[in-house]
Amino acid sequence: MEREMSSLTVLGCMWGDEAKAKVVDFLGASADVVVRFQGGANAGHTIVSEGKKYVFHSVPSGMLYPTTRCVIAQGTVIDPFGLREEMQGLMAQGIDFSGRLFIDSRAGLVLPLHKELDSSKEEQLGKNRIGTTGKGIGPAYADQSARCGLRMGDLAHPDWLRKRLLSLYDLHGQNPDAAALDKELAALASAWEFLRGYVTEVDILLREWYLQGDSILFEGAQGTLLDVGFGTYPFVTSSHTMCGGVSTGAGFPPRWLDKVIGVYKAYGTRVGEGPFPTEIFDVTAERIRVVGNEFGTTTGRPRRIGWFDAVAAKYTADLNGLDGLAITLLDVLSGIPELKICTGYWQGDTRLPHYPSHHLDLESTQPEYLTLPGWEADIGAVNKLGKLPKAAREYLEAIQDLLERPIELVSVGKERSQTIVIN
Ligand code: GDP
Ligand code: IMO
Ligand code: MG
Repeated sequence: MEREMSSLTVLGCMWGDEAKAKVVDFLGASADVVVRFQGGANAGHTIVSEGKKYVFHSVPSGMLYPTTRCVIAQGTVIDPFGLREEMQGLMAQGIDFSGRLFIDSRAGLVLPLHKELDSSKEEQLGKNRIGTTGKGIGPAYADQSARCGLRMGDLAHPDWLRKRLLSLYDLHGQNPDAAALDKELAALASAWEFLRGYVTEVDILLREWYLQGDSILFEGAQGTLLDVGFGTYPFVTSSHTMCGGVSTGAGFPPRWLDKVIGVYKAYGTRVGEGPFPTEIFDVTAERIRVVGNEFGTTTGRPRRIGWFDAVAAKYTADLNGLDGLAITLLDVLSGIPELKICTGYWQGDTRLPHYPSHHLDLESTQPEYLTLPGWEADIGAVNKLGKLPKAAREYLEAIQDLLERPIELVSVGKERSQTIVIN
């Protein structure tokens, strides 16, 4: 019997680290293909499976399933040395890449120059810095947009590569000597030897696979509030993290995006600078940071903590046209006597009608909160919605009502098995 065509998109819908990888891993059991369509090694995606921890930066999380095909699409920016190291690390953990990883020859390259530019720009910005991950993401995307970037497929053409690299340095006002340039080209040639077998035109494959009925899962990195266009600009990343980024990033027709799930943590976190209206600094914040292990996967930085912001969350749910929600790390809230959900922002006596497009001045903005009772019980072993404490169910219902979408999945722990499926 012919199988139905299907694609599923899983997007982080706040400021990243919503436990996308956990959700992708859970839903990925039935996917034939998992695709990263934007971002690069700024992502840190953690999966815990049978007590073993796996961290993915540029490699799609679907790699953990032994037969799932994984794609790194055009819209990403890839550090060839970093990717080689990441793959070697995962190989050492027993993951077999052969015939399963497909990298688009048009994916942008992150070069050592981009990492230097990333850190020098942050230094120059001083107290106005973005708080980037230092992975060279912004400068690499800037060069792609400025049409002077290098792409994965350029590595196959040494003469062309040398010309493009020289021109890139020149455009950045740098003039490396011949020995330095030769050294960099030799290093790139060695990374290419490792990667070349995986590089192809994956957009063609993706469309073929979809039409033949394979199920394709798109794995977002970062989150919608970090989208370069619709996020909390300028405190954003440099790619399109929202739903439309799937299509432009993977070369996948937008009308083939069959279902979109948004991942939200049961509370708020943010790493790096930028407005975070519901941020808290008290003992509850510290408790959540410790219990939720809220330290960056990529940089180790302590994450900022806050209450669930339903104003920002509704904005991103609407932007992405979400079909359903996945709420994660609910277990972390166990034992907190009272929980808050932000339902509005006030500036003076004006209640903002929606998440504002201009940089939010926190000095003049007051969040409005709905206060709900917490619950005591450890919920890490709960596998049915009905078995959650009443207060936990009411907390989820409040989120569902405010976002006007059904919750389809609740995560109550790191492990694949600690997941509640609804419907
Ligand atoms: P991602 O970048 O969105 O994939 O998220 P990260 O991997 O950076 O951060 C999520 C963290 O929470 C990881 O350390 C996960 O192992 C962990 N995690 C995922 N789901 C749950 C959950 O339901 N409860 C708890 N306590 N931890 C979780
Ligand atoms: P995952 O995929 C959380 C943040 C940085 C900084 C801003 C710009 O694990 O959710 P960049 O290095 O991209 O130029 O930094 O974006 N940031 C993330 N925050 N999770 C991520 O990825 C992030 N990737 C970038 O902290 O504020
Ligand atoms: Mg992360």
